[in-house]
Amino acid sequence: MTSPADLSVVERDLTPEEEQFNELIAKDSRIEPRDWMPDAYRKTLIRQISQHAHSEIIGMQPESNWITRAPSLKRKAILMAKVQDEAGHGLYLYSAAQTLGISREEMMDQLITGRARYSSIFNYLTPTWADMGAIGWLVDGAAICNQVPLCRASYGPYGRAMVRICKEESFHQRQGFEILLELMQGTEAQREMAQDAVNRWYWPSLMMFGPPDDQSPNSAQSMAWNIKRFSNDELRQRFVGMLVPQAAVLGVTLPDPELRWNEETKQYDMSEIDWTEFNEVLAGRGPANAERLRRRREAHEEGAWVREAAAEYARKQAERALAASGAVA
Ligand SMILES: [Fe+2]
Ligand SMILES: [Fe+2]
Repeated sequence: MTSPADLSVVERDLTPEEEQFNELIAKDSRIEPRDWMPDAYRKTLIRQISQHAHSEIIGMQPESNWITRAPSLKRKAILMAKVQDEAGHGLYLYSAAQTLGISREEMMDQLITGRARYSSIFNYLTPTWADMGAIGWLVDGAAICNQVPLCRASYGPYGRAMVRICKEESFHQRQGFEILLELMQGTEAQREMAQDAVNRWYWPSLMMFGPPDDQSPNSAQSMAWNIKRFSNDELRQRFVGMLVPQAAVLGVTLPDPELRWNEETKQYDMSEIDWTEFNEVLAGRGPANAERLRRRREAHEEGAWVREAAAEYARKQAERALAASGAVA
């Protein structure tokens, strides 16, 4: 018998802190920054939340490319709002990770030196306007499927950040759907552009759920800790189930000839995912890996004066507050 504190621990007497942690998990309560937690739990969360934050920040790049080229003022405003939302998501998540004892500087350093991961999906290129539609519909759509259960993650600051993020993600998904809908009601060339973007983003969006369950070694522990609530394959199925009727409304074809509902298994049958591609992109050999990191590094350097000015402002404010309190006393 193992305990949720650490699945690898064999039976032994638990410390009072471990018992309290296990009790909170068993009751499906929240763990807060003040609570004791096993080291492995803390490390897993730091890794997951910081990777998630990096993904939000890097994810701004493929879309910000299109802000100046969006086809109307309305589209520019919507896209700009979406990209700003992603920056906000990054900030909530970095803040949540900081409550676990890692600094913002450390996380940023891990990102720009290439030691941290972010979602591989953002290493693909966005050659046409329809990519903005496909990203919103498929990538933000997959993000929602992944993230709605995370609103109940056992670590309080993470779960609470996810509540707000999910609300904004559903706006992102709708705006993507609407871009595709408009293109699908347009000219032949526009319909082709929309279908082409769906063809390119469909498989990478399915890969966002991670490897198949039998090849996902850390999932069981994350589920025992109430961080993860559903398996990768369950979430992938749920996502496809959401896409199928929406694709019918759009009039686009999901690029999988094997895709059909199986009445017996009550699941969608689908073709094998090409994991060699996934692993290539993950290993840094995707179409835009180097470019994304280069741009992030540049932005970080260009922003140095803003960070310095903010720190100096905070220092002066603190000095003034101290002087004022001294004057009163
Ligand atoms: Fe986001
Ligand atoms: Fe989003």
